[in-house]
Amino acid sequence: MAAARAALLALPALLAAAALAHAKLPLPPYLKPCSIKLSSKEMTKCAVKHANEALPHVTKGDRKYRIPSMDPLLVDSLQVDDGHGPLGLNMLITQAKVYGIPKTVINNVEFDFKEKQVRYDAFLPSVNIQSKYNISGQILVLPIIGHGDANLTLENVHVTYEYEFALEKMEDKEVYFIPKKHTDFRFNTTRLYIHLDNLFNGDRLLGENTNKFMDENWEELLVSVGPIFSTAISEIIHNILTNVFKLVPATDAFLDAGEWKKL
Ligand SMILES: *[C@@H]1O[C@H](CO)[C@@H](O)[C@H](O)[C@H]1NC(C)=O
Ligand SMILES: *[C@@H]1O[C@H](CO)[C@@H](O)[C@H](O)[C@H]1NC(C)=O
Ligand SMILES: *[C@@H]1O[C@H](CO)[C@@H](O)[C@H](O)[C@H]1NC(C)=O
Repeated sequence: MAAARAALLALPALLAAAALAHAKLPLPPYLKPCSIKLSSKEMTKCAVKHANEALPHVTKGDRKYRIPSMDPLLVDSLQVDDGHGPLGLNMLITQAKVYGIPKTVINNVEFDFKEKQVRYDAFLPSVNIQSKYNISGQILVLPIIGHGDANLTLENVHVTYEYEFALEKMEDKEVYFIPKKHTDFRFNTTRLYIHLDNLFNGDRLLGENTNKFMDENWEELLVSVGPIFSTAISEIIHNILTNVFKLVPATDAFLDAGEWKKL
């Protein structure tokens, strides 16, 4: 499989604010902490419950906590660049609006404080992405070129997201829970619909045939471009999580975490 690269060129300004020095805040009122002293089973129960209760508030966005609105989530641009690689595809996606995130259900959360890892399993009934696109190269051996409006829909999306974290003392002497690198991001779907308007400079027949071909071969298409989107999506989740946890000391984000103060 092609080792395609994706670069998230720009997220909304709200997320870029993460670069600023952090100012300490309490946990947002809609996000309830869990005790680190719970057994892992009880911790999962608590975290799943609290995460699902918080989701409707989180997805509305919260400027104070640098959480962007996710109804829809705006992504300024996403560059997929594999022009010289085996995939032979160049794609620029701009002005993307991602719908469907507020319907997310968190199915599982596993904190491993010893290994310093967290793993989330979530389900999204339907995700729709409307954007501008500019594409050239090859898609599943077929030459493709064009620019215009793109419409993508994914149904029944299961997402697994795992990352390593660190507990770090910051300048204010408080210990923060800092998401580090993501170690796993996977998703599956029961159906991908894709429609690219205005392919081949508006050549209707070629455009329709290419869209039909992509629709009929959506599973292969997902295998080849899926990893590119995984990279972008995990980047977005990582940014959002990092933004929140950089504002709230770990001892406020978790109950019974007093000993972390001594780190
Ligand atoms: C699409 O991308 C190509 C190659 O990068 C560029 O030359 C062209 O101007 C772009 N077209 C639009 C409409 O942005
Ligand atoms: C996008 O595609 C979906 C699924 O094919 C369709 O139901 C929807 O009407 C389309 N939206 C637009 C704006 O074209
Ligand atoms: C999708 O992933 C979920 C969670 O990992 C799994 O339970 C399910 O069987 C997978 N479905 C398919 C179609 O692979």
